[in-house]
Amino acid sequence: MIVAVTGVVLIAFVVGHLLGNLQIFLGPDWVNSYAEHLRALGPLLWAIRAFLLVSVLLHIFYTISLAIENRRARPVQYERKDNVKATFASRYMAMSGLIVLAFILYHLAHFTVRVTDPRFLLLKADPLNRYDVYSMMVYGFQNIFVSAFYIIGMFLLALHLSHGTSSFFQSLGLNDKKLTPRLALAGRIFAWLIFVGYTSIPIAVLFHLVKPAQEL
Ligand code: HEM
Repeated sequence: MIVAVTGVVLIAFVVGHLLGNLQIFLGPDWVNSYAEHLRALGPLLWAIRAFLLVSVLLHIFYTISLAIENRRARPVQYERKDNVKATFASRYMAMSGLIVLAFILYHLAHFTVRVTDPRFLLLKADPLNRYDVYSMMVYGFQNIFVSAFYIIGMFLLALHLSHGTSSFFQSLGLNDKKLTPRLALAGRIFAWLIFVGYTSIPIAVLFHLVKPAQEL
């Protein structure tokens, strides 16, 4: 239950963050003003960050303890294990989850603390005297290795979500012959829409469809 509820909190963040980031296609004014509004939340922003952090920690703690419990319940491994129904995504939840965690740590260093790219310090404020988050994102994704790492991170996020969303309904006790496969399909479609939405940003930058608002 805790894994499911914290999962929903994290999914809500992923959707909200995507909608915020997609404003890059509307121009620098939108993204910079969005980032400025978030910063202006002050203590409330810190409360949201603390809430997200607690959700991530609980989500990881309980999934790992569940996995350990499962392993203890069967100390002797199966001699032969055929995965009849388990999908690829479901068998690699721990692996995809841990790589997503590594991606988030890199992402925080990249765009929030801004310690991985010295060019971000050279960016001037935008005409309304706000930090130019728009140009920061564009310069960040112009590096093909950075963009490739983001795309891999988001691929694993989608894989994780594609199974996570259907597990959520099962955790709530919803296990209906007709409804369950439909919910699983909806979960998969949702996860891959998230993937397409997020990856559209580095891809648009790499193809020069989105250009920085200032020269460096
Ligand atoms: C193309 C993909 C993405 C872009 C362009 C992007 C952009 C950004 C930017 C610009 C910030 C810093 C905001 C600021 O300080 O003004 C940020 C923060 C953050 N992003 Fe992303 N992001 C992407 C994907 C993701 C994904 C997939 C996740 C999670 C799974 C994520 C989680 C976070 C978190 C936790 C923060 C910190 C929020 C805070 O400052 O409290 N991001 N992102």
